[in-house]
Amino acid sequence: MAGIKRIGVLTSGGDAPGMNAAVRSVVRTAMYLGIECVGIRRGWQGLITGDIVMLNGASVSHLLSKGGTILYTARSEEFMTEAGRKKAVGTCKLLGLDGIVAIGGDGTFKGALELSRLGVPVVGVPATIDNDVGCTNYTIGFDSACNTAIECIDKLRDTMQAHERCSVVEVMGRNAGFLALYVGIAVGATAVLVPEQKLDFEKDVVEMIRRARLAGNTHFMIVVAEGVGSAVDIGNRIREALGIEPRVTVLGHIQRGGSPNARDRETATRMGYCAVNALYEGRGNSIIATQEGGIVEIPIEEALKMKKHLQMDRYRIMEVMQYGAHKV
Ligand code: F6P
Repeated sequence: MAGIKRIGVLTSGGDAPGMNAAVRSVVRTAMYLGIECVGIRRGWQGLITGDIVMLNGASVSHLLSKGGTILYTARSEEFMTEAGRKKAVGTCKLLGLDGIVAIGGDGTFKGALELSRLGVPVVGVPATIDNDVGCTNYTIGFDSACNTAIECIDKLRDTMQAHERCSVVEVMGRNAGFLALYVGIAVGATAVLVPEQKLDFEKDVVEMIRRARLAGNTHFMIVVAEGVGSAVDIGNRIREALGIEPRVTVLGHIQRGGSPNARDRETATRMGYCAVNALYEGRGNSIIATQEGGIVEIPIEEALKMKKHLQMDRYRIMEVMQYGAHKV
């Protein structure tokens, strides 16, 4: 659409591997279409304060492999207020921005909806290691974060095996168990605790460790999603129930760092491309999503109402693996 001359791009919320690849794709696509691209730094807060950097094809070179986000990220309290959002609209007017590509998770998209209601076209690109955005079956950064967690847990397993210990590992995911479940399956955990499944400590933890021990194992790996609660508490309960001395590791922010893997680089590139084309073709106020492998655009309001559930069939497979391993 000839009307689009200049767009802004920002990253907001928790960073995720692949955010930079998405920024690169947005900028390169905009350049191709003859659209100027302004980087908004520090998320929605930067749109309020006018914290900007001009971006061009060259300034996003060598970004594909970089973790973090060159645009910085933040969670803005001020943008939650009407006064803050009005200031942001003022910045868009001042800079002559015809649209915004907002890269982040659900929190970012709630902001996008509010801004779009004030007349600024916004397209969202889902990026969070939690994979908890309802409208899309994949969010940029999830696969890389899983791989980071797996690498760490494989290392933990070596030392747990050597000392014949029980490891309790807490992974991120906010209120969702996607990261914990995928990682738990991939490391062959003794037990995986996710917030979507009501915890029965005796059955889900004590019995799992006991069965593993009866089957001849002398080290145990318990993966806990942060949404379940503290891994330290789980460790204490294991000590009380079984009289063993677990070692607790909270993987924390290490899961958000590092170079994005192939899936995240490729998805980020496709999503960034689609986001700019949506704005160019006059389809603002949407979220770019993956559904059944393909990319779709979903109106923000509708997208925010969509719910995604942890795949209980995967949870079941994980249980079968555990059961089969411990069958005596
Ligand atoms: O949403 C991404 C995430 O890493 C969550 O998994 C985690 O709960 C949260 O962000 C941590 O946020 P902060 O960076 O503010 O500690």
